[in-house]
Amino acid sequence: MIAKLLKGKKVADRLKPGIQQRAAVVTESRGSPPLLAVLAVGGDAASQVYLRSKLQACKEAGVEATVESLPESASEPEILTLLRKLGADPTVDGILVERPLPSKLDALRITEAVCAEKDVEGVTTANYGRFCSAKTLADMRAAGILIPCTADAILQLLLETGVDVQGLEAVVVGRSNIVGRPTAHLLSCLNATVTLCHSRTRDLPRHLKGADIVVAAVGEPHFIQGGWLKPGAIVLDAGIHGAGPDIRGDVDFEAASRVASYITPVPGGVGPLTVICLLDHVVLSAERRTRQSLAS
Ligand SMILES: NC(=O)c1ccc[n+]([C@@H]2O[C@H](COP(=O)([O-])OP(=O)(O)OC[C@H]3O[C@@H](n4cnc5c(N)ncnc54)[C@H](OP(=O)(O)O)[C@@H]3O)[C@@H](O)[C@H]2O)c1
Repeated sequence: MIAKLLKGKKVADRLKPGIQQRAAVVTESRGSPPLLAVLAVGGDAASQVYLRSKLQACKEAGVEATVESLPESASEPEILTLLRKLGADPTVDGILVERPLPSKLDALRITEAVCAEKDVEGVTTANYGRFCSAKTLADMRAAGILIPCTADAILQLLLETGVDVQGLEAVVVGRSNIVGRPTAHLLSCLNATVTLCHSRTRDLPRHLKGADIVVAAVGEPHFIQGGWLKPGAIVLDAGIHGAGPDIRGDVDFEAASRVASYITPVPGGVGPLTVICLLDHVVLSAERRTRQSLAS
């Protein structure tokens, strides 16, 4: 079997004009474009490349972006003060904290310092709690709940297949709060039967062998082998390693694409759509804030 490609870039190109149009409406109604404030602490070459691609996407969509770059050595109080300042700044619509953060920092405390109203990643306890308490996608949409961006991108690519997910076996490898866990919740909302695997999982290949849907959010290049997959599986790879032509995902793409029915390429899969989900959330926040300020 040769898998069909789930091209996030193609979906992103389809969604971009709508976001551009909404950003233009905000700009016209209040005289300033939606504004995203990015906080970057340290960061390797790959993170820089990914950040540049987000800034370029903002520019193309008519969303302004500012970057607060702090050195790897920045202290937690310094970061918390900056986040509180951005939270109180009336010109800022969305706040994004670049990840991974240096390991010496308490990522949870930093996440919690983001103003929930401007939390465009949907990762603060307030927003994440609302997300987790929703039982269906319809409930999430009706309540205007933000889905964490990468999980949102994975969901949209899965929906692109047109496959009815209900009752299918899904295995998510990785349980971070920004990728693995929220994706597992979304799959459960679609009525898949979900197994959440992690570094202590015994015999991962055995779990994968029964999976109709595999989500890779491991953080190890080419970790998931083609031979571990069930023939016809849908494979969604969140992994990003390296930069430029050497960029790789968490799945051994060559081998997996001979076994899977659908697969996301890296690059051009989950990554570009995650950026579009982020832009969508920034514009959504700007729209809400514009409505609120016009009403007051
Ligand atoms: N496309 C995007 O927009 C986007 C956004 C964010 C991240 N990413 C990428 O997505 C991947 C995951 O990111 P993350 O932030 O979720 O990573 P993370 O916080 O480091 O989490 C990795 C997860 O993988 C699990 N894991 C590690 N080694 C394993 C093993 N040998 N077997 C099974 N599970 C294992 C860990 O288990 P434990 O919990 O037991 O430690 C953990 O739950 C990375 O490649 C990252 O670059 C992509």
